Amino acid sequence: MTDKYITAFAPASIGNVGVGFDMLGLAIENVGDRVSARKTEEKGVRIKEIYDLNGDVHSSLSKNTNENTASISANSLWESQSQSCGLELVIHKGIPLQSGMGSSAASAVAGAVAANALLENPLSKKEILMYALEGEKFASGGLHADNVAPSLFGGLVFCPQNSLPVTSSIKMPDTLSSIVLHPELKVNTAESRLKLKKNYSLDVLLEQQSYLAGFVLGVIQNDITLIRENLRDILIEPQRAPDVPCFKKIQEIALNNGALGCSISGSGPSIFAICENNKSSQLERLMRESCLNQGYDCQTWISQSNSKGSAIED
Ligand code: HSE
Repeated sequence: MTDKYITAFAPASIGNVGVGFDMLGLAIENVGDRVSARKTEEKGVRIKEIYDLNGDVHSSLSKNTNENTASISANSLWESQSQSCGLELVIHKGIPLQSGMGSSAASAVAGAVAANALLENPLSKKEILMYALEGEKFASGGLHADNVAPSLFGGLVFCPQNSLPVTSSIKMPDTLSSIVLHPELKVNTAESRLKLKKNYSLDVLLEQQSYLAGFVLGVIQNDITLIRENLRDILIEPQRAPDVPCFKKIQEIALNNGALGCSISGSGPSIFAICENNKSSQLERLMRESCLNQGYDCQTWISQSNSKGSAIED
């Protein structure tokens, strides 16, 4: 039995991408979680340690394997392959908690991908999806794949619940980038989801449906005007904006300075914008300045649109 650790990286993601509540997600570059895994004599899954963004032992995440998305996902995949040995995990959080950047999903993906790699990859990424979703279900209280799927596969993924485990990757125009701004606030996704209205008028549903279709068509046809006209959310964003007090001003600045769209990532507090590559640096600076001027410290990331998903690291 080997005692060598294998490490999986899974990136952060923008869930919803504004228009596609619970069914459209986009991976982000250069920020994500890592899970290292090794086989153990003792059966079952165990979390050896969890480290935070600074490399210190995490002060708030539970090492109870039934309460951690990485271990829940890794364990469900491990058990499906009827292993006679166990699994030990070390989790390195690179994504801020309760940030709206798919932190729980990235850990779930990295846990499942690491477990699969230890078994010498019996499952394809498409087959890993439902195991990774087990962890996400625990964290957010719903079966939505708009963080797990882009984190696993990379890029933009259409993943409505009723089609799972089938998902569709959609190539974004290479000329587009995303900007994610994370203000120093926290929003609990499960609580945020409970507050959402359950019923919507037909008018609102039809309008939102047209935005989703228009946005996806714009992406497929490489039509920047169509993307700009349709990247908007009249359904969920207005309900979540009050939880992110700096959002409205940042959105206004982004839209006035070349963003094709700007909305709340997941349940917030992160804010994302999509723009043409040559506008991304200036837009990032303006969004950051607006956030700081409103009294919130923040972090930002710029990503190309078709970024890579989860991977095993050397
Ligand atoms: N689609 C989910 C939501 C993503 O917006 O609640 C949560 O990160």
